[in-house]
Amino acid sequence: MSHDFLEVDDLSPAELAAVLDAAAAGKASPEAIDPVLADRGVALLFEKPSARTRVSSEMAVVALGGHPVYLRADDVGIDTRETAEDIARTLASYCSLIAARVFRHGVLDRIAGAVDIPVVNLLSDRGHPCQALADLLTLQELFGALEGRRLAYVGDGNNVAASLAFGAALTGLELTLSSPPGYELDDEDVDRARNLGGIIDLVADPNEAVKGADAIYTDVWTSMGDEHEADVRREAFAGWQVDARLMGLAGPDAYFLHCLPAHRGEEVTAEVLEGPASVVWQQAENRMHVARALFAHVHGNIR
Ligand code: CP
Ligand code: NVA
Repeated sequence: MSHDFLEVDDLSPAELAAVLDAAAAGKASPEAIDPVLADRGVALLFEKPSARTRVSSEMAVVALGGHPVYLRADDVGIDTRETAEDIARTLASYCSLIAARVFRHGVLDRIAGAVDIPVVNLLSDRGHPCQALADLLTLQELFGALEGRRLAYVGDGNNVAASLAFGAALTGLELTLSSPPGYELDDEDVDRARNLGGIIDLVADPNEAVKGADAIYTDVWTSMGDEHEADVRREAFAGWQVDARLMGLAGPDAYFLHCLPAHRGEEVTAEVLEGPASVVWQQAENRMHVARALFAHVHGNIR
């Protein structure tokens, strides 16, 4: 049976809770982590740059006793040197898990379809589910139970927003999304999150969206691969910057989240990013803890 993790809702609510619990347990007691990937290879394939995802994944594999093999897309030539399927089959003959960051989500689907070993999405154009796990762990550390808490996502309705919506739906976290016209999360993703039981509100005005929120989240206005749209987007997103005024509308206890990398002066001011409400470094650290728990889970060995 396949244990792919291409989106957060590949986990049931109970599995998601178990992964978050295992991540928290490993964070609290690293000495108790089971080396469930001992003598196993994990292929980490990247078509795009990465700091957090690459290093947190590598260190997660090391903590589980395994050996991470980092590959840039250029090294293997996905669909240029050989097909994604042929690369996947080859990697599966050496490794017990493939994790990949790709431009087109369809490439991940093809990799997953070609092999029996688990495949993990390390970011695609459609989702960033490992990030959402870290975000949920961070919010759980801050709030305890997520049920009934409200997160306001202000910015691009992109891959990060999609995975957050699915993660929120599975944990009872309420999510308010506010994006400039034309940059909203796809209807299909909103419906999918709602069908999972999610309370997802779409609020055009960011000032309204953040009122009473327990936390505000944003991401870059221009994602990797969309750089040619940067100027147009900078203009379209101008009213969606998270600054001290917007944080103030949420209330004095609201936290600020960002998956990073951040562009100070664009989607967030330096004041907010560096301010007391910001938990971005906690989120970044948690990438490693959730990656470790997730890799153990998809390998069938969460304990
Ligand atoms: N948040 C995140 O995925 O960061 P990287 O792109 O540096 O991996
Ligand atoms: N939405 C961003 C997230 C980076 C971690 C991107 O896809 O580039």
